[in-house]
Amino acid sequence: MKALVLGGDGFCGWPTVLRLANNGMEVCLVDNLSRRAIDNELGTASLTPIKSIQERVKVASKLFAPITFVRLDVAKDYAGLEKLIRDFGPDAIVQFAEQRAAPYSMIGDEQRRYTVDNNVTGTHNICSAIVNANRDIHLVHLGTMGVYGYTKAFGPIPEGYLDVTINSTGSDASILYPANPGSVYHMTKCLDQLLFQFYNKNWGLRVTDLHQGIVWGVDTVETKLDASLVNRFDYDGVYGTVLNRFISQAANGVPLTIYGTGGQTRAFININDTAECVKLAIENSDFEPDRVRIFNQVAETKRLSDLAEIISNQYGAEISYIENPRKELAENDLEVSNEGLVSLGFSPILLDETLVDDVHTIAAFCKGSFDRGAVLNSPKW
Ligand SMILES: NC(=O)c1ccc[n+]([C@@H]2O[C@H](COP(=O)([O-])OP(=O)(O)OC[C@H]3O[C@@H](n4cnc5c(N)ncnc54)[C@H](O)[C@@H]3O)[C@@H](O)[C@H]2O)c1
Repeated sequence: MKALVLGGDGFCGWPTVLRLANNGMEVCLVDNLSRRAIDNELGTASLTPIKSIQERVKVASKLFAPITFVRLDVAKDYAGLEKLIRDFGPDAIVQFAEQRAAPYSMIGDEQRRYTVDNNVTGTHNICSAIVNANRDIHLVHLGTMGVYGYTKAFGPIPEGYLDVTINSTGSDASILYPANPGSVYHMTKCLDQLLFQFYNKNWGLRVTDLHQGIVWGVDTVETKLDASLVNRFDYDGVYGTVLNRFISQAANGVPLTIYGTGGQTRAFININDTAECVKLAIENSDFEPDRVRIFNQVAETKRLSDLAEIISNQYGAEISYIENPRKELAENDLEVSNEGLVSLGFSPILLDETLVDDVHTIAAFCKGSFDRGAVLNSPKW
């Protein structure tokens, strides 16, 4: 099985590359290293000392199976992408290669345009290249729970499609869940969904869209095997995901920063499960592509104030409520189906003290790199 992993140098991509290679897949990792460049632009850095992509790939290739690295921009180098697909001949392509921070996409005009250009063009290039190469390649895309919005207007959140009855005809239909993005970044993921619907309808493109929850954790089974494989740990207000931010704040004696009331409920998944779910999606590529397959890649839902309480109780950290920089509902309930991946064998890792402590240990070990100035660097929108 050959897998082309686009965006394989990132927080989710790197552990997934290792998981696939560790399970006997031949992996080609593509990245334009833009995430590392954005760190320079923002004056931030991973809390963990991540190695160069060349060093990562060298060490991983010795431990698992040979991994090739290709530096390529999927949004800007269409010809290169199509050639790579023809030459490498993947069975599956995993699309992680997008600008993924909602706050970054809301900094200003330049970042809004960059996020739309990069994400939508990149994803469209991949669809188009698969069709042009005329191969039956399974495209696995990382979407986000944020495409649904966070209301219970249509009841518990199903997996991509909503069953409705049409008032005027009384007939039943299954429609793409109404998109309700909360940032330009989330909007690009909604646009990606329409690209997939069209490419699937017109060319029968085999697509799995994984609407992922907020990822937490740092290490995976594979990254722990060698210090050179360590995953990135974003803790700043732009790229840091909320639970990792809380844990790093607790480890550094900084109050846990809750935006608004903390009544927001969100879906979560551990980084080990990110890698596992993508592996499961690829291993189960043999489905009828009569429509885009959509799964919610989610382990559990948690209210942010409850999460902060858990971390605060575990480490005696203070909690600080600050004005919410984001335009979002102050409070919401959330109920999400994850039946699709569970039916493929996904057994979710749930939040527990030991796992939180693993992340805390890393954050404490990397204390010297913690920049207090990066904690509250989110733009307001
Ligand atoms: N991290 C999360 O909590 C989370 C939650 C839900 C969904 N996701 C999705 O998972 C995917 C990966 O997220 P992540 O946290 O690993 O992000 P990340 O920024 O750490 O990784 C993305 C990688 O893609 C690369 N990249 C971006 N644009 C590219 C391009 N045009 N060409 C080639 N490479 C490019 C970057 O250099 C980076 O290495 C994203 O699509 C994101 O939307 C992430």
